[in-house]
Amino acid sequence: MAEPMVLVFGRSGQVAQALAETAPASLALDFAGRERCDLLTADPGALIQATRPAAVINAAAHTAVDKAEIEPEAALRLNRDAPAAMARACAGLGVPFVHISTDYVFDGAKAGPYVESDPIAPLGVYGRSKAQGEAEIVAAGGAWTIFRTAWVVSPKGANFINTMRRFAAERDLMRVVADQHGRPTLAADIAALCLEAARRGMAGDASLQGLFHLAGADDAVWADLAERVFADTERRTGRRPMLERITTADYPTPARRPANSRLDTGKLQAAAGWSPRPWRETVDICLAEA
Ligand SMILES: NC(=O)c1ccc[n+]([C@@H]2O[C@H](COP(=O)([O-])OP(=O)(O)OC[C@H]3O[C@@H](n4cnc5c(N)ncnc54)[C@H](OP(=O)(O)O)[C@@H]3O)[C@@H](O)[C@H]2O)c1
Repeated sequence: MAEPMVLVFGRSGQVAQALAETAPASLALDFAGRERCDLLTADPGALIQATRPAAVINAAAHTAVDKAEIEPEAALRLNRDAPAAMARACAGLGVPFVHISTDYVFDGAKAGPYVESDPIAPLGVYGRSKAQGEAEIVAAGGAWTIFRTAWVVSPKGANFINTMRRFAAERDLMRVVADQHGRPTLAADIAALCLEAARRGMAGDASLQGLFHLAGADDAVWADLAERVFADTERRTGRRPMLERITTADYPTPARRPANSRLDTGKLQAAAGWSPRPWRETVDICLAEA
């Protein structure tokens, strides 16, 4: 018997690549990158109806937080309208839909880690477009899973660790923000949980349906990550840039970012039987495999 086919939106992104590397032989993943389904112009619902997958995972998004401020229509098409169409098509076919959202749906004003039931209050276009995507998925009904994740990193993707690695080789001084608190998350861990949610959903098991926070185990600020990257660069090359810890106010960006976007993962740990990874281990995996 042929393996069930899972349609994945996204192909070269961090989570999409991790899905390709993580998928078990018992599942056939069919990737739709933007060359096959450009979510700015094409209807992903039509592709779902045409290919009739056993489950759908959406790893595509408008992830450029600052650029979203100047192109809100594109952010809304990718982060609200595309997942809405996917969720409706999946509900129509009766197949599970797994989607990824963000810590940036929160404003960061809470003192502790955010749980799923905390009120959302996004600070910018990206967070608003992702929040609206969540609402559309819930409204579509069907068997949906939304994983809100944070600070995604992977050995090869476009992410903070790889940016710091590049700068470490070129610069003598790096000024890095040290007052935004979050929980770095390995793309491979997100991929594994997306696959598990799809697998359970296909088996008629609803235990991973609903909204879950999916992030690393412990807190960091961006400067902590940079420091670990620079220590690794020094071990490899003998060269280490000076690190200056600065505030968000010292480094203005077009989009405002939450000062606290720590996600509490207790609900997911209980439902999935999963343990989040400490951020130092996450960074070291990225550095070792890069
Ligand atoms: N990165 C983070 O720190 C972070 C934090 C919280 C939540 N998230 C969420 O996690 C998910 C995965 O993020 P990621 O880091 O893997 O993203 P990423 O590396 O930036 O990849 C973005 C993906 O979106 C696809 N895409 C972009 N524009 C498209 C278009 N016009 N049509 C079709 N596809 C398009 C890309 O397609 P191609 O494969 O064709 O290039 C790529 O696969 C997203 O939902 C994101 O919002 C990310």
